[in-house]
Amino acid sequence: MPRKKTSKITISSKKTEEKFKKPPQLLRGMKDILPDIQDVWDFTKAEVDHLAQDYGYARIDTPLLEETSLFARSVGENTDIVEKEMFSFIDKGGDHISLRPEGTAGIARAYIEHGMLNQPQPVRLYYWGPFFRYDRPQAGRYRQFYQFGFEAIGDEQPIIDAQLIVVCFSLYKKIGVPVVIQINSVGCKTCRKEYEQLLIDYLNPRKKFLCEDCKRRIQKNTLRILDCKNPECRELMQDAPQIVDHLDEECKDHFVKVLEYLDEAEVAYNLNPYLVRGLDYYTRTTFEIYPEGKENDSQATLGGGGRYDDLIELLGGRPTPACGFASGVERLILNIKEKEIIIPTAPKPDVFVAQLGESAKKKALKLVEELRQKKIKVASNFSKDGLKNQLSLASKLGVKISLILGQKEILDRTVLIRDMESGSQEVVDFNRVYEELKKKMEKTQPIIQNNHRIGG
Ligand code: HAM
Repeated sequence: MPRKKTSKITISSKKTEEKFKKPPQLLRGMKDILPDIQDVWDFTKAEVDHLAQDYGYARIDTPLLEETSLFARSVGENTDIVEKEMFSFIDKGGDHISLRPEGTAGIARAYIEHGMLNQPQPVRLYYWGPFFRYDRPQAGRYRQFYQFGFEAIGDEQPIIDAQLIVVCFSLYKKIGVPVVIQINSVGCKTCRKEYEQLLIDYLNPRKKFLCEDCKRRIQKNTLRILDCKNPECRELMQDAPQIVDHLDEECKDHFVKVLEYLDEAEVAYNLNPYLVRGLDYYTRTTFEIYPEGKENDSQATLGGGGRYDDLIELLGGRPTPACGFASGVERLILNIKEKEIIIPTAPKPDVFVAQLGESAKKKALKLVEELRQKKIKVASNFSKDGLKNQLSLASKLGVKISLILGQKEILDRTVLIRDMESGSQEVVDFNRVYEELKKKMEKTQPIIQNNHRIGG
């Protein structure tokens, strides 16, 4: 098929010309992850990776771009995410594509496309990466944000739901962020349809008390009215029929079992009959996780998930039950900072190589490389020429030993080994530097665990 021709991007508009006069800035709602916060990111990611290994989840990475229709079909055409929040555009080939606003749809697509149905079920997958929603930015809400998520596809048993909740509960607990779990069941498509009609019958005569969004939702997305944050809508919903009272026998039994498993695992939860979540694919269990003390702040939600038994079939696969959850990384890190949680940092360098003069610089460059190859953690800074500056950097890094190469050392084929704590120095032959260094390291460096307090 011939490809449509698209016009070239022009940079001649007045707005763009104005922008070219100023230094470039971050796009609204985007965030740089600067070096000083990378250790918390690494720590969080390592905890997620360990947890995935412990529970047998295999890593999957799906593309950041997918067909727009994938999200419209799965997340739902009438949801806020699809209606208002997607970064969607037409590519040069004329295809309608979107930056992924969430991970479950892409994973469901991948499950079908790669025939994962033929693998032992459930297929357990986890992911970590950036997602995009064109929402109004505020604290803890960005237009590009990171999520990690776990999906168990191919098993409808309630123990799967309970174990997923246990998985995320233990992650937050291990990291040191106490959480509160809210849980509900939205039933299956049959009992939900009946419940939706009951809700419509309750709402229609009271329509005038609803906010404008909820008036629209009555026909298009009735369940979402349950978790509208508008005070008048909330008040009206207090007397509305509750979904848990209208579940069919199978859905009721499934939900009761999920709760029993959670009781058995000693994971506390609050039943929340208004919890329907903002994505259309959910069936039966839905849950959300809040930091303790912020249970009523919807912007603070750390994570959420639930069952999506119809999604794979809806996308053209065989009927395949599934359950999963995702957690916002920035929000978790915000809580790690607020709680001043101590995290392990990368080990300090064993030694600093300092140099003075051009020939010493050359020799030091080689020495750094030789020591690194011998598995010594070595630091240096060739941009600094003054010895004082280099040694003060070594102290800042917490290094116990420095190796100093100056003009004299080059002529004598020696190196000065300096004990950074006492300031004492020893001259050693250049060829014996590794052996002498090892000896000193054994004496001066007890095995210690480095820790680092975040925030505060
Ligand atoms: P979600 O509730 O839309 O669920 O997102 C999960 C988490 O991502 C939220 O609880 C929040 O921590 C974080 N998050 C969402 N939007 C933003 C934002 N704009 N800025 C910062 N963080 C944000 C899902 O995405 C489902 N796919 C979860 C799931 C997996 N259900 C089944 N499997």
